[in-house]
Amino acid sequence: MNVKRVTPQHVAIIMDGNGRWAKQRGKERYEGHLAGVEPVRAAVRAAVRNNVKWLTLYAFSTENWGRPIAEVEAIMELFCRTVVGEGDDLARQGVRVKIMGERTNFSPAVLEMIEQIESVTRKGERLTLVLAFNYSARREILLATQHIAQRVAEGKIAIDEITEQLMAEALMTAGMPDPDMIIRTSGEYRLSNFMLWQASYAEFYFPEVLWPDFNEEEFDKAIEVFAQRDRRYGLVTDES
Ligand code: FPP
Repeated sequence: MNVKRVTPQHVAIIMDGNGRWAKQRGKERYEGHLAGVEPVRAAVRAAVRNNVKWLTLYAFSTENWGRPIAEVEAIMELFCRTVVGEGDDLARQGVRVKIMGERTNFSPAVLEMIEQIESVTRKGERLTLVLAFNYSARREILLATQHIAQRVAEGKIAIDEITEQLMAEALMTAGMPDPDMIIRTSGEYRLSNFMLWQASYAEFYFPEVLWPDFNEEEFDKAIEVFAQRDRRYGLVTDES
């Protein structure tokens, strides 16, 4: 059932603009990513304060492996360092962390960090922070389709038992609500292979701010914008 919410239950953010932020300051791209860590903390704090239950951050797409090796390594290193440093604090805030994406291509060190952060924060109940890391929505849909086709081939399900519900359960977001709002920073208006299935009824918001300049006030602004939106889910309402 579609429920009209004033506060989004699930906010997803495409964190964009780190490279441009660095370039504007004559810095290396890596420094833009480094400056992008504090806004992650701010978004988590603001999500908890606004009673948002799910916050998904697009941290590394499958396509990002194609960036220069030094930048990829720098992001991996930054991820490990951040995970080591933030785990206890996130757990104290009641934040549970889930890493969403294929667990392939990662070094053993990164895989260990993924397991560590998920384990340290597993009891968090106030907010689930989903980090999309080595994630691509087309690949996610493809893997889900293969999984379902396999079950059909094995005679475990019939073709007419393939429903939206079954599909949703085969995706990496199984058990999660769809995002109510998708934010992309830096004034770019694209989804870039992010949550293509789940975004069907999301409200979109595109602040001009580059990700390193995103902060709690920006998050609050997004929540205010969401409250003004009239979500109709293809129906008509009193306001329309
Ligand atoms: C997009 O900006 C950003 C990324 C590909 C990496 C995001 C990573 C962080 C914010 C680092 C911290 C996050 C965690 C979870 C440790 P871009 O490089 O595409 O920017 P541009 O479009 O200006 O070049």
